[in-house]
Amino acid sequence: MLSKSLQDAINEQINLELSSAYVYLSMSAHFEGENLGGFANWMRVQYQEENGHAMKFFKYVYDRGGKVHLKVISQPAAKFKTPLDVFNLVLEHEQNVTASINKLYELAVKEKDYASQSFLQWFINEQVEEEKNATDIINMLKMIGTTPISLMMADRQLGARKNN
Ligand code: FEO
Repeated sequence: MLSKSLQDAINEQINLELSSAYVYLSMSAHFEGENLGGFANWMRVQYQEENGHAMKFFKYVYDRGGKVHLKVISQPAAKFKTPLDVFNLVLEHEQNVTASINKLYELAVKEKDYASQSFLQWFINEQVEEEKNATDIINMLKMIGTTPISLMMADRQLGARKNN
């Protein structure tokens, strides 16, 4: 059975994952408005991934005899600047998520909850991937610059992202 403190911390994490989904959906809406359908697609796939992360935690809480308490999801930003600015925000956001996962893991270690440590390992690896994905796109955007043709190329590439 999950301890009360781990259950509370995982409920906070569910909120963070759902809030992340909402942030990425807002970024997707922004790119739709900019006629960058490929960027918008990438953000929608990310939105779905975050919902998937929330549901992994949701299921885990019940697998361990706990209870899920859903909380308020705050309104995401709706105005953004350049694609590079948006992906800098994505990286910053993912670094915060990584810090939150690391705190959960530290709590699981402190409580000698080995099942939670094992469960959280997947998220630790996933965050390496999440930060790498954002960093790769930031590097690409810096390299290609901001001409319309280079943005079109990037848009085509990000449009190829599919759900896992
Ligand atoms: Fe679920 Fe992007 O962290």
